[in-house]
Amino acid sequence: MIHSVLVRAAKGRVTEDAVVFPVFSEAKRLAALAARIDKGLDGAAAAVLASETFRGERGETRVVTVKRGRRWANAVVVGLGPRAKADAEEIADALGAAARSLYPLKLTAAALVVDQAVAKEAPVPVEFFVHAAIKGFVLATHDPSLGAGTTPTLRRLSIVTDIPARTLGGIVRRAHDLCGLVARVRDWVNTPANRMTPARLADECRKMCAEYDVACRVWSRADIERARMGAVLAVASGSREDPRFVVAHYNVEKKTLPLVCLVGKGVTFDSGGVSIKPWEKMHEMKGDMAGGAAVIAAIACAAASKLPVRVVGLVPCVENMPGGGAFRPGDVLTTSSGKTVEVLTTDAEGRLILADAVAYARSHYRPDLIVDVATLTGGVVVALGTRVAGLMGTSEDHVDAMRTAAERAGEPVWPLPLDDRYFAMVKGEISDYKNYAGRNASPVTGGAMIGAFAEGTPWVHLDIAGTAWNEGNGPSYQTRGATGYGVELLVRFLEIVAENR
Ligand code: BES
Ligand code: ZN
Ligand code: MN
Repeated sequence: MIHSVLVRAAKGRVTEDAVVFPVFSEAKRLAALAARIDKGLDGAAAAVLASETFRGERGETRVVTVKRGRRWANAVVVGLGPRAKADAEEIADALGAAARSLYPLKLTAAALVVDQAVAKEAPVPVEFFVHAAIKGFVLATHDPSLGAGTTPTLRRLSIVTDIPARTLGGIVRRAHDLCGLVARVRDWVNTPANRMTPARLADECRKMCAEYDVACRVWSRADIERARMGAVLAVASGSREDPRFVVAHYNVEKKTLPLVCLVGKGVTFDSGGVSIKPWEKMHEMKGDMAGGAAVIAAIACAAASKLPVRVVGLVPCVENMPGGGAFRPGDVLTTSSGKTVEVLTTDAEGRLILADAVAYARSHYRPDLIVDVATLTGGVVVALGTRVAGLMGTSEDHVDAMRTAAERAGEPVWPLPLDDRYFAMVKGEISDYKNYAGRNASPVTGGAMIGAFAEGTPWVHLDIAGTAWNEGNGPSYQTRGATGYGVELLVRFLEIVAENR
């Protein structure tokens, strides 16, 4: 993957073996900076536009190889699609296609021309255009095979731009930080469950936090027992792997700043437990910790940009297995809040561990807001597909803020209804709650059970069961398997919380 992104002075010579020229479909010719750089490539990019065989549709690419002195160089023209539609996700998608078009060339370095005139034509602010372009290009060069396959060779990206340094500010550095963290989330989520155990996940979280100066403590089973997290312990009880509970603190001592608790589902493998899943897609359940991974990476990213917010990250890490000591359908569990839950299916384990974690977040931190992120339900995939996450919550303002964050991040969400009718559906008969309320509205009742444990604390829920995993129809900057969805969404959300503080 690309691990170095730098800005190159617009006046200098471009020496990379590939130079990428993004153009809107309305463009008839190159903007000034691009045209000057293209002269060094015999005007190859200009010729592509002039030929009118190139329509500039989003992700349409044309690679032209030309002689440059005694070597070869490649002009890569990539379509951004029509201006009016160029939002963060589409810009990143187009640049991901540009990176993909370079795979067969096996180059190690590329240059990306970001003409201010072109960036200004997009409906998003220039800063977001540049960010999305870099993100799309860099993330498309991630290696989803964990080093086992033929890997994309690109390692360095130079940004050639006439955008003034003061506008560019920390954009390039932050895009680079974000991409590194998203790549690590993808790697964790793609790592098979025999390697990514709860202990290992907690350890990776601890290491990431240490690198980004985020305080982090990992609770052992004994610590979890002391906190009386009966639901976490029950889900963990069928596995030989001990549970862990990751507690990350960023800025927590800065008492005047708003406090957000991010809670992520960290199920390292979800066999379904005694209510075992069919085998066909069970292997994908190694990715059932994607929410927890996104939470920790988002805190690291927020810390790297020194966002003025307080953030606590809580990730219960467990493996859901049908061992001899496993919890069973019919069991009644006592959560850390003292409230009880009847288990109707051991496969609705995410809401159980999140109930304990959300209850702990509420009572221990008294935060301004709790956000939980989870690969929670198959139902959300049926309802919204794999490109849009389910969103719900008890605070309209925060739900709206999450929608704005999603637009900025290019990570789409869609709100699902949540009111007392749904909370009533998860009330128990022999317990306070039950963990399954039938197939009807299952993403909403799943969320509602978690939300019930936030009690009066404002709470937002993201169901990323569809978006955490790319089966092949994702945008071009997503590699196969884990997507890293949610990291940028949470970072943009925390930015909004910081803006409104
Ligand atoms: N981890 C799954 C949800 C899931 C499904 C994630 C598909 C990613 C892709 C969750 O724990 C689960 O098993 N949900 C069940 C709950 C049901 C039994 C109430 C579901 O939604 O089918
Ligand atoms: Zn699960
Ligand atoms: Mn499950």
